[in-house]
Amino acid sequence: MTQNSRKILVTGALPYANGPLHLGHLVGYIQADIWVRFNKMMGHQCTFVCGSDSHGTPIMIQAQKLGITPEELVNTIEKEHQADFKGFYIDFDNYYSTHSEENRELVETVFQRHLKKNNIAKRTIKQAYDPEKNMFLPDRFIKGDCPKCNAKDQYGDNCEVCGATYAPTELKNAYSTLSGAKPIEKESEHYFFKLQNYEKTLHEWTRKGHLQEEVSNKLDEWFKSGLQEWDISRDAPYFGFTIPGETQKYFYCWLDAPVGYMASFKNLCAKNKALDFAEYWDQDSKTELYHFIGKDIIYFHALFWPAVLSGADFRTPTAIFANGFLTVDGQKMSKSRGTFIKAKTFLDHLPPEYLRYYFAAKLSHHIEDLDINFDDFTLRVNSDLVGKYVNIASRCASFINNLFDGKLSATLAEPKLYQEFVDAGTNIAEKFSSRDYSQAIRQIMALADRANQYIDERKPWTIAKDPARLSEVQDICSMGINLFRALSVYLKPVLPKTAENIEDFLQISPLTWQDINTPLLNHTIKKFQPLSQRLDKKEIDTMKAAVQNDLDITTSNEKVEAPFDFEPIKETISIDDFAKIDLRIAKIIHAEHVEGAEKLLRLELDLGHEKRLVFAGIKSAYQPEQLIGKHTVMVANLAPRKMRFGESQGMVLAAGPGGKDLWILTPEDGAKPGMRVK
Ligand code: MSP
Ligand code: ZN
Repeated sequence: MTQNSRKILVTGALPYANGPLHLGHLVGYIQADIWVRFNKMMGHQCTFVCGSDSHGTPIMIQAQKLGITPEELVNTIEKEHQADFKGFYIDFDNYYSTHSEENRELVETVFQRHLKKNNIAKRTIKQAYDPEKNMFLPDRFIKGDCPKCNAKDQYGDNCEVCGATYAPTELKNAYSTLSGAKPIEKESEHYFFKLQNYEKTLHEWTRKGHLQEEVSNKLDEWFKSGLQEWDISRDAPYFGFTIPGETQKYFYCWLDAPVGYMASFKNLCAKNKALDFAEYWDQDSKTELYHFIGKDIIYFHALFWPAVLSGADFRTPTAIFANGFLTVDGQKMSKSRGTFIKAKTFLDHLPPEYLRYYFAAKLSHHIEDLDINFDDFTLRVNSDLVGKYVNIASRCASFINNLFDGKLSATLAEPKLYQEFVDAGTNIAEKFSSRDYSQAIRQIMALADRANQYIDERKPWTIAKDPARLSEVQDICSMGINLFRALSVYLKPVLPKTAENIEDFLQISPLTWQDINTPLLNHTIKKFQPLSQRLDKKEIDTMKAAVQNDLDITTSNEKVEAPFDFEPIKETISIDDFAKIDLRIAKIIHAEHVEGAEKLLRLELDLGHEKRLVFAGIKSAYQPEQLIGKHTVMVANLAPRKMRFGESQGMVLAAGPGGKDLWILTPEDGAKPGMRVK
């Protein structure tokens, strides 16, 4: 550690542990990871923690649907999340869970301290209740007709058609998405955090450089309308921590979620004795604390959280860094448009560092949304990473390898040019530090152009033909390799895996920011191996096809979607529409697994007069051998559809909530292949 090394704690938002990560989630984690890696390279003591957000109604309901305990669900999903993070080289120093003993203790401490300060109120409120499920309903689990525009199937808090916001009690024809029952109103006593006690402190805090300017402005709107008491309790059944002194009441998951940052760090302190919990969290802490979050959870982090912390005698964050939302081809990610791309699906088909690079090339310290367009993505990666950056090494290395036994020259051919690269580092570092990655990338790529231009001008391939000028070739190519090494230092926070490969190729210890000051001279390098491959449009297409095959994705975001069992019946169709659907009895003559497909079985069907191949998403419910010989019902006149694994020529009918509870229709008596189903 250097003398002026800072102690920095960085957190990534804790993802809900009830669904897969998608590319949108990755924006914030990649942004934070780049920042952490940069700070570590600068020699600071930087710690990066995260973990599962394990509590809440959606997780409880999702577990019920799957017939497992919430703990089991959280464990399974957590493993998937961690595999995704690892896949994208998002390197947390600790990954923990809000459902942990450390967190329980910390939340209780926070709560007791606020009780003592008279910051907690208790009062009885009326809430929507599902009389069939016997539980209170969060707004997201109530749907009905919009009170303003009458649009059907709108959520309990706002209308997606006309944008109106309202209370769930105002919905017309309201129903519970869990049971379909009409919600009733029921009373219950709740605990409230008196946020208004912190109005003055908070108002000052939000203007002291802890927040992005856009965020402070947004908060002003909230201050204008006056801060409200915050409901921090939920009634049983709930998955969370019971409130001390209660048996049927729980802390609302958004109270214990950010405390989970502390719990994850505390858990790390137990494993790493060099870290001291109090040093980082006491009120007078000299360390720095940063939270990276998405813009939708600003309210929780910029208002409740500093108030909760300061009232409980803990330090407040140094800064909160909010990122904008990811759109795909300019639009909100959507399953029906096939733009809902899971982290795992991307990993299965494309190099993870390309996404890191693309995001870096677009990110700034602002909160604007960013867009991924795959044509642009391909172009950018191919032209910058392959065409400019890696090209420098591949142009120079072969000469060094083949003509000089891998040995670099003893002096720099162009010290002035090298110094330009070193000097640029100050500015690039500033851009990384202020999270203006797009500007850092722009400067790095300008340097890459400069390096290529140098090689173009000196033409080592021409000089190499003259045996008398061989040492010149060595000097030019050594210069090129040194410029490439400097660029590799600058890109290392973004491309950690490539950096590792380069360290191996150059036979050097892990690159730090300081290393640019000392060029590699009189040093032997290994044989060059290609570092990045050109991206082909075909690879993008294969990934897009795989996205189409990701049937029934449940998102992990409570705010976007609540899982529901009960699906309301939508528009009606006429009898003529119905008559168009040609339903036939089909005999399953063969069934088999599809390699690489998570959910699909390949069925060969006998329709009497012809045979069909159909891919059916029923793998979770049936072993192929169970199906062979059975009759089923299929939509015989569905237009054939190209899938990643082949063409699907029709559709088999099945019903059920999903998972292993999914049944294909199996007509028995007298069913003959090809018969029309009436
Ligand atoms: N569990 C809460 C966070 C608790 S932090 C104490 C949560 N989880 S989440 O799984 O819904 O989201 C995880 C992170 O991804 C959040 O920072 C969220 O803002 C971010 N994003 C979710 N969808 C996103 C996009 N489409 N684009 C960019 N960020 C997105 O919120
Ligand atoms: Zn409306």
